[in-house]
Amino acid sequence: MPVFDKDMSAYEKLLIAKKVFNIPRTEGNITCGKKFYKTECRSCHGRDGKGKKNSIIPPLSGQYTQYLAKQLKAFARGEREYDDADFFAEMS
Ligand code: HEC
Repeated sequence: MPVFDKDMSAYEKLLIAKKVFNIPRTEGNITCGKKFYKTECRSCHGRDGKGKKNSIIPPLSGQYTQYLAKQLKAFARGEREYDDADFFAEMS
């Protein structure tokens, strides 16, 4: 989180905040993605994609678009192994 000085105006804060927000790099299909996320991903990664604290489930929201795309491709190709196979075995 950026550090705000209490004397800063809202505009000054906004200028700083813009530097740390992750702007999605692709348009994507929000309606379709939302539906898919809800049925396939939400149970683990959480309603807002924040992952779960004190667990191996990482947050997805706020993560870099290109990084996420790379990870998903790696999972799909079998290049990225799941960090904890036992966790997934327990889920199935
Ligand atoms: C059964 C629970 C579960 C479900 C359902 C699930 N995930 Fe995950 N996901 C995990 C766990 C646990 C990890 C981290 C462990 C690992 O790397 O193997 C992870 C890691 C990831 C990562 C890598 C994040 C990083 O920081 O490297 C991405 C991206 C991801 N999941 C996307 C998705 C998407 C998209 C869906 C829905 C299509 C989904 N996951 C469904 C449990 C789940």
